[in-house]
Amino acid sequence: MASALPRVLVLNGPNLGRLGVREPEIYGHASMADLEVAAAKWGAELGLEVEVRQTDGESEIVGWLHEAVDAGAHVVLNPAAFTHYSYALRDAAAQVSTAGLQLVEVHLSNPATRESFRHYSVVAGVATGTVAGFGFDSYRLALSAIAQRLSQ
Ligand code: DQA
Repeated sequence: MASALPRVLVLNGPNLGRLGVREPEIYGHASMADLEVAAAKWGAELGLEVEVRQTDGESEIVGWLHEAVDAGAHVVLNPAAFTHYSYALRDAAAQVSTAGLQLVEVHLSNPATRESFRHYSVVAGVATGTVAGFGFDSYRLALSAIAQRLSQ
């Protein structure tokens, strides 16, 4: 029987496949594979069907956002560097939230405390909300916020 649980795509942008080796003092020592394991556990606890994906390609992540809209899936989105300049990603993300689906922007680090080019997010204005600065816990908090919203 098909799962009746709400579906959440956890989408990750460029360089996040390098988690664990990329600037661990900022992003930590855990890998994307570790995030997949953790997200599956959080999903099971929260009653969500969670799928984690990562790409370095703008067109691929835009396509995944279109897929989320068509499938009625909610989205946790770490747009990585695309956060700061990709209007294509923003326009795709806007389609998720205007479809009535939850779209939570997440960041491992807190971009507001870093270089000035990271202070502006083109995605924030179309997101349901943003969680930043808590490492992997940013994802757990985002999933928890989605589960809470869906239970209201
Ligand atoms: C990031 C923050 C971005 O500024 C950066 O380009 C990333 C990761 C984060 O999760 O902290 O790649 O989105």
